[in-house]
Amino acid sequence: MAIVSSHTPDDSAKPKAAKTKATRSKPSAPPADAETLQPLLSLVKGGDMQPEDIQAESAGAATDAAITTTAPEDSLRPQRLQDYIGQAALKEVLGIAIQAAQSRQEPLDHLLLYGPPGLGKTTMALILAEEMGVTCKITTAPALERPRDIAGLLVSLKPGDVLFIDEIHRLPRVTEEILYPAMEDSRLDITIGKGQSARTRSIPLCPFTLVGATTRVGALSSPLRDRFGLIQRLRFYEIDELTPIVLRTADVLKTPIEPAGAEEIARRARGTPRIANRLLRRVRDYVEVKAAGAITATLAAEALELFNVDPCGLDWTDRRLLSVMVENFGGGPVGLDTMAASTGEDPQTIEEVYEPYLLQIGYLQRTPRGRMVTPAARRHLGYDEALPNDGSQMTLL
Ligand code: ADE
Repeated sequence: MAIVSSHTPDDSAKPKAAKTKATRSKPSAPPADAETLQPLLSLVKGGDMQPEDIQAESAGAATDAAITTTAPEDSLRPQRLQDYIGQAALKEVLGIAIQAAQSRQEPLDHLLLYGPPGLGKTTMALILAEEMGVTCKITTAPALERPRDIAGLLVSLKPGDVLFIDEIHRLPRVTEEILYPAMEDSRLDITIGKGQSARTRSIPLCPFTLVGATTRVGALSSPLRDRFGLIQRLRFYEIDELTPIVLRTADVLKTPIEPAGAEEIARRARGTPRIANRLLRRVRDYVEVKAAGAITATLAAEALELFNVDPCGLDWTDRRLLSVMVENFGGGPVGLDTMAASTGEDPQTIEEVYEPYLLQIGYLQRTPRGRMVTPAARRHLGYDEALPNDGSQMTLL
């Protein structure tokens, strides 16, 4: 099943773009709904992707689109650009793109968002759709295994819709190749038959906006990367950006909180709104059970110590990664796979989830010979800073 969820814009939010007058991409032919596809598809015999496949997926997509799966954080997400806190540069770029697309009555250009998890890539895609007054269909690359998964999804899009593909670096090659003409010319090319008798048929699609999200922009093929008109990075949030996010979420959750309590949570949230909101829920539980009244800085600190989140936001796994490097490898350099094998963590999780923040706060360095722990990290963990990073303190596991 290709679609994870589908969000239609809030009726109260006035659509500013004329959805039916999207003109960025070419086709003069009508959009490819199931009815329009029928005569074209009836020509198709054999091949990897059967017309019924597309029609079935198209119908399925429409059904799926009606079933909106709501993630727990959905109600906490800001819905409009003006409510989105932080990422000032990104907001400015997207604000201009939205205004320009609206005045030309075109869909937004395709957008690639990259950066560590939890910084708001999905939220931003939903906001863009809301601002443009179109529907956002959300899926994830590993769900688009077969050509018909993406084909069904593409034909179900209405003019200007946003298609959000998370983890886009994990798209299978065949799916990726179907996206190229879809992104460039609003065209679905399907190959019928095999070998010498193979033929290609083109089906016009409604012009749409692809928003791709990835934690690993370098893992995207260049043909795919080059088809995005906008490529934007999300960076970690500052404490003074996370604090109002925590206050806003507490307000949505109707949880009383003092500004200093919000700041304490923000300080320990690794620059990441998703983590800040998760910590807020844990602190809320703690305060409801152990105390009464508002979340204060002291209560937040007490709760987060209990949940093993230290004053820098490091959790048990961060500290273990760093301490294994210091104790077993003299602080490095250590290769990623060695770190993974020594800690029992998955290398990709270390690279995409843990390392970015440790690098950001200067606790880890990447060198051509491997990862190294910095003096600041040693100080934080209570090791003697003076010890050299040469492996001479190596101990056996
Ligand atoms: N909740 C999660 N991320 C947010 C953000 N960037 N702004 C406002 N609320 C949020």
